[in-house]
Amino acid sequence: MTAFFIHRDPKIFPDPLRFIPERWLLEPEDLRKLERYLVPFSRGTLGCLGPNMTWAWLYLVLGTLLRRFEMRLHNTTEENVEVTRDKFLGQTERGKNRVQIKVVREYP
Ligand code: HEM
Repeated sequence: MTAFFIHRDPKIFPDPLRFIPERWLLEPEDLRKLERYLVPFSRGTLGCLGPNMTWAWLYLVLGTLLRRFEMRLHNTTEENVEVTRDKFLGQTERGKNRVQIKVVREYP
């Protein structure tokens, strides 16, 4: 199994490439079932050691950035995130693997 195919399986995550945060707004029982298929850190004895730290950083960093700044994508299109090559980790076309953000303003 790979996270790439699990996260893109429309039977598990309908319309998988669309940003639908509401897909996670479920009753606790259904949420638990769906979370079994969220596997960016892999699973099992060889799985990542850092999920808890990563979630903490994500909440802190994203929460801080989104509350503090209005941001727009800059010089970035779908091809900058579209996985087209298997390099053990999925990669974009050569040289495209980047996302740029421009700060439009800082919230008071
Ligand atoms: C977005 C952040 C991260 C992602 C998506 C991620 C994902 C992964 C994945 C997919 C593996 C391979 C698991 C396997 O071979 O089955 C892995 C291994 C590992 N990760 Fe992470 N990781 C992240 C952050 C971190 C952090 C912050 C730490 C440490 C604080 C960490 C420590 C490790 C270690 C030590 C392994 C090797 C585990 C082993 O082979 O026994 N990772 N990670």
